Amino acid sequence: MHHFQYHDEELYCEDIPVRKIIQDVGTPVYIYSRRTLEHHARVYEGAFEQMDHLSCFAIKANSNLSVIRLFAGNGMGADVVSGGEIFRALKAGVPPDRIVFAGVGKTKAEMAYALRRGILMFNCESSAELDLLDSVARDMNKKAPVAIRVNPDIDASTHPYISTGLEKNKFGLNMESAFQEYLRAKEMKGIEITGMHTHIGSQITEIGPFRDAVDRIKGLIERISGKGLAIRNMDIGGGLGIRYRDETPPTPAEWAQTLIPVSNDLGCRIISEPGRVLVGNAGVLVTRVLYLKNTSVKRFAIVDAGMNDLIRPSLYQSYHDIWPVCRREGEVINMDIVGPICESGDFFARDRAMTMPMPNDLLAVMSAGAYGFTMSSNYNSRPRSAEVMVDGGEFMVVRGRETYEDLIRGETV
Ligand code: LLP
Repeated sequence: MHHFQYHDEELYCEDIPVRKIIQDVGTPVYIYSRRTLEHHARVYEGAFEQMDHLSCFAIKANSNLSVIRLFAGNGMGADVVSGGEIFRALKAGVPPDRIVFAGVGKTKAEMAYALRRGILMFNCESSAELDLLDSVARDMNKKAPVAIRVNPDIDASTHPYISTGLEKNKFGLNMESAFQEYLRAKEMKGIEITGMHTHIGSQITEIGPFRDAVDRIKGLIERISGKGLAIRNMDIGGGLGIRYRDETPPTPAEWAQTLIPVSNDLGCRIISEPGRVLVGNAGVLVTRVLYLKNTSVKRFAIVDAGMNDLIRPSLYQSYHDIWPVCRREGEVINMDIVGPICESGDFFARDRAMTMPMPNDLLAVMSAGAYGFTMSSNYNSRPRSAEVMVDGGEFMVVRGRETYEDLIRGETV
């Protein structure tokens, strides 16, 4: 569900023609719909309201301060994976005791920062990390609240780059190692065990893998409780898929239903880390057609956004719908929509059947709200695009377009 729709052949975000926003802000630009974000937050929170829970928005999906703040205002916390993300979450007003910190490569400085700020939980991913955290916490006369990230060896049937719950992946500890680490952590003076964590992947479109993961984690929590260790928080990660094309992912409610008996049985709080499902369909990337170009075998529309702005099609061969901002009559042809970057992998769509656009036409790359701007870069020395938030009939630039000066900030000759 989202609030991007046509009125009289013209694409609107909520109550504003997208064209109007572009007149002010230019292209490329990310446009987010506040109404859609609010709706997703309400639906998600509603799904979990029957149980003691905390939803921590995975801010890697979209770390714009306005977006984080909106979710914080809906009672959500933040799932972070770096010191920078902790900084952002705090700046956006997320209370520290609603921040969970995952990641296989936490540095000593990041640990100390998180401890100083008093975050809710470190989701520890290795034995060595646990040792370092223990020593950092002891040096600070603190106890670090810890969940061990368990890798349940479950195939999430998603793109291999975003599958994380298999034994061959770098994330977490397998069931037996995790068990041993819990026993070890129990004796550490700088560690307080407060939870168990898992996250099996992203853009998961079936309920089965989630169910299997929860069953396994539940079994391990029971086994650990038998050793006198209370697990107060069961963090089940994120990963709910969205519809990019014709997927039919489980709804938050379906997911939550599978967790109610578990939460009742174990008496622990359910933490989840939704990212994509909250923001994915709430944002689009709008770009302008610069040129049309034909070869003997291909037809190209060259646009002013590139893989530096939205890397998902290049990196994961992911599908994004592409909608004209003003619909026109015309020949439907198969074409590639490509960017200006000097790489053949710089494309948004390949052999896509669409009404042939004209130079200067605006195109909206749909479902770009998650892992869009956050994965953007300055490759080819391209300033990063602006971000706009629409609220009903109004809009606001929530991050200004970068300038050439921004490109060289911090550099010296
Ligand atoms: N929790 C942890 C520990 C994670 O690693 C992630 C995502 C999430 C939660 C949120 O997952 P979500 O609900 O958004 O699926 N760049 C890729 C996705 C990478 C996901 C990384 N981890 C993409 O564009 O598809």
